[in-house]
Amino acid sequence: MGQSPGEWRLVTPAGDGRPEIRVADQKDALSYSAARFLVALLAEAIETRGRASIALSGGSTPRGTYDLLAGSAGRALRWGTIDMCFGDERVVPPDHPDSTYAMVRDALFPHGHEWHDAPRLHRIRGELAADAAAADYERTLRAIFPDAAADPSLPILDIALLGVGDDGHTASLFPGDPVLGVRDRWVARSTAPPAFPVRDRVTLTLPALERSRVVCFLCAGLGKREIVRRVLVDGADLPAALVKGRERTVWLLDRGAAMGL
Ligand code: 6PG
Repeated sequence: MGQSPGEWRLVTPAGDGRPEIRVADQKDALSYSAARFLVALLAEAIETRGRASIALSGGSTPRGTYDLLAGSAGRALRWGTIDMCFGDERVVPPDHPDSTYAMVRDALFPHGHEWHDAPRLHRIRGELAADAAAADYERTLRAIFPDAAADPSLPILDIALLGVGDDGHTASLFPGDPVLGVRDRWVARSTAPPAFPVRDRVTLTLPALERSRVVCFLCAGLGKREIVRRVLVDGADLPAALVKGRERTVWLLDRGAAMGL
């Protein structure tokens, strides 16, 4: 299969509990194809329900995709019908260099970028103490998604875009963290291991993430091949292996990250 813009080198369909895997050639092609993939999902949600919602991921991998969403890839989308939330946040002020909101804002709203109808960007207030920020975001999300707040059988988000850390964490759900057992809330505080620059975190909980119609992991680079193999082949008991979408679980990889498959 030739690699033309927006095409995938390989698509492994979902089956018997296994997620769908899409492999692009390298990082730039992955960012481009991932942006087109997300735009198609958002457009389908708007077409079906008149609105769309996505929880965005932090980290370095999605930045290229966010840049493209603000540019050519998302040109035809009715952005004003989209609620953009966050899967997690570091507990820092919104202008802090480690703030996920700051990274997303700079990508989606670069200086001088004019949106004809801007998406609604709902940040986690990382300037608050962790518990207060989590409670505040829980209220924010339940106000944005009142039907899902009233009826636990309904999905909350259309898409949860997630990354994977080398230790198998996703969002800010780290291995061994008690937050993995939180079932009664959509948002909770968590703690990153000592090696991380910002340890205090706020994260969507597992049950909240699993109330996404589509969970989409975005993972790139040879350095991720081992953790991708552990999650997708070994089925290791890691947070990234636990998160499944209600309708679809999709892994968007470049060739390097897919090397272990
Ligand atoms: C964060 C993310 C985190 C990230 C992974 C992968 O705040 O950092 O929520 O879950 O997605 O750590 O990060 P990279 O994309 O930088 O590898």
